[in-house]
Amino acid sequence: MSVVTALNQKGGVGKTSTCYHLAGALALGGRRVLLVDNDPQASLTQGFLGPQATRALDPSETIAAVYHQEAMAEQVIRGTHVPGVDLLCGGRAAGSFNVPDPHLTDWPLQTSLRDFLADVSGGYDLVLIDCPPNLHLASWTSLVASDGLLVPLQPEDFGAQGIADVQESIDRVVSGPNPALRLLGFLVTMSNPRLSVHKGFEQLLRTHYGDAVFTTTIPISTDFKEAIVQRQPVAQYKPRGAATKVMKALGEEIFARLAAADEPTAAGEAA
Ligand SMILES: Nc1ncnc2c1ncn2[C@@H]1O[C@H](COP(=O)(O)OP(=O)(O)OP(=O)(O)O)[C@@H](O)[C@H]1O
Ligand SMILES: [Mg+2]
Repeated sequence: MSVVTALNQKGGVGKTSTCYHLAGALALGGRRVLLVDNDPQASLTQGFLGPQATRALDPSETIAAVYHQEAMAEQVIRGTHVPGVDLLCGGRAAGSFNVPDPHLTDWPLQTSLRDFLADVSGGYDLVLIDCPPNLHLASWTSLVASDGLLVPLQPEDFGAQGIADVQESIDRVVSGPNPALRLLGFLVTMSNPRLSVHKGFEQLLRTHYGDAVFTTTIPISTDFKEAIVQRQPVAQYKPRGAATKVMKALGEEIFARLAAADEPTAAGEAA
């Protein structure tokens, strides 16, 4: 079992969509996934429950209870209508915990999500955590709890994609509470292969970051949007569609990268 966080402090780059559709594709392939909605906007939760039921959730049924360090699994984790996908709901109540300078907060708060997941994650092949578009406490607890980080970004406006800030956060977490955290990769999302500016960005990214960029690129596709309107991940909405094929490829690449990260290095073997 591995824990992966989708994070970029830039808004609207595809963090939530990636978690949602990836979970569906993995589940279609027989894997068991726990989605953690660690964004007080609760977009991921809305993707399953809709906006009204999401607003009606009692804080004790959401990740806020994890931050209060009083959550019991059966209280906060629910099954979804997608077989194989469970959800730890998000909600506005968790917003009061999402403070800046998270490394200065109480230690039990910083490790609250990691401690909770340690008790429940055995039942899953992958835990996937969605974050808000900032690097405050919610994102910090996600990184503290994770084996790997996936950074979605749009193929435009290189300087605005927040790569340097994300890398700074990784360094802080690695030199502090979670030395085991690894960057799984940058994921190009919403790519339009017909736009030369998108192609150019992707080339530049691959030149700069090489293998740190996922081979899989997520194309812009109305199938992703239509699926969400139907409250279904794209793999359940159009199991044979091109968008589903891409999400399945991303899932396989994530597991391959996690396995590669677990392999001992040549130096480690020699030691
Ligand atoms: N591959 C895609 N093709 C078409 N539309 C997409 C694709 N990926 C995401 N979108 C759309 O782009 C918008 C932003 O995506 P999403 O909500 O996943 O981003 P986010 O990074 O989670 O945003 P926030 O920072 O607000 O949490 C949504 O309307 C989503 O449906
Ligand atoms: Mg989001």
